[in-house]
Amino acid sequence: MSIRKIARADLWGSRGYPGSGGDRNEFVRLNCNENPWPPQRASDPLINRYPEKQPGQLVERLAGLYGVAPTSLIITRGADDGIDAIIRGFCSPGVDAIAQCPPAFVMYRFFAKLHGAAIHDVPLDPADGFSVDFEGLAQAAGQGAKVLFLCSPNNPTGSSVDQEKILELCQRVAERAVVVIDEAYIEFSEQPSLSRHVSDVGNLIVLRTLSKAWSLAGARLGVIVASEEIVSFLHATISPYPLSRSATQAGLDATARECMATAADRIESIKSQRQSLAESLQQVDWIETVYPSEANFLLVKVPDAAALIEFALANGFLLRNQSAQPGLANHVRISVGTADEMQRLVELFSNCEVPT
Ligand SMILES: Cc1ncc(COP(=O)(O)O)c(C=O)c1O
Repeated sequence: MSIRKIARADLWGSRGYPGSGGDRNEFVRLNCNENPWPPQRASDPLINRYPEKQPGQLVERLAGLYGVAPTSLIITRGADDGIDAIIRGFCSPGVDAIAQCPPAFVMYRFFAKLHGAAIHDVPLDPADGFSVDFEGLAQAAGQGAKVLFLCSPNNPTGSSVDQEKILELCQRVAERAVVVIDEAYIEFSEQPSLSRHVSDVGNLIVLRTLSKAWSLAGARLGVIVASEEIVSFLHATISPYPLSRSATQAGLDATARECMATAADRIESIKSQRQSLAESLQQVDWIETVYPSEANFLLVKVPDAAALIEFALANGFLLRNQSAQPGLANHVRISVGTADEMQRLVELFSNCEVPT
């Protein structure tokens, strides 16, 4: 099965920007109009040079981390940039559509709008643990949705999606759509990544990020994992030099062998803080619901979300109001922080009247 019929016809066969140096520092570089000197104060002596289009060492590192071939991934400026590249590659502006399952991560809608792609909303079912309407997604694919977005664990609900059903959906829409499974929070869940299937499921795309489990939100590093065919096609749609040398170095430092144990410990700590935060919040009499979560945040229902956000802010905490999401009126999302931060938040909530 080829994705040729799904990809934008006008981009198919395009080779994208080839890059023009990056790793070729043994030559006298007179091909990129670079400044021959690094700045007077530079921690990186090669900062005056354009970087590699895809930094080989980091590609190898992440391929090892995710258990896929280096040819099965593209590193992007965060997973957000991956969402952008995918919609650009598959949706012709004014013609094609995406499908998403609200309550959903807001960037699917944001980038679809930027690309002039219509949006099919296929809502999750809150009465059934935010389960996915796979039938609805297959129907959307029959009505022009070329990219079907799923997120597991889902932001903002924290719920996971049945992997067998995702694979069935891929098969069902194989001629019409690619299925993107956004695994930004997978490291905090018990599910294995679907990356293991990209070599045999030709229309499956997995999104990963180093922003969450790897503590690199400020570096902007995300990964598209997909078949070699999709990866080589999407190379044509990414920007010329997406990754700065400093972002690449941050990625290499964070994922160095000697840092693995600490990163793993922190993931475990977040998971255990999530559990104790959920238990503590369930004891707060004015909190109506604390939803189960497999991510590094909790979704809670309260009497008045806007009032709670304001009250929390006045006491030094930033929380996220989710009331604009369909079905999530008076819901608030709370990221899991350190034990001390969580203790202070719980004390604040336990000792106050219901904020209204
Ligand atoms: C579900 C989901 N996908 C993707 C992203 C974007 O991640 P990145 O920081 O890598 O752009 C986020 C960020 O919050 C997210 O919640």
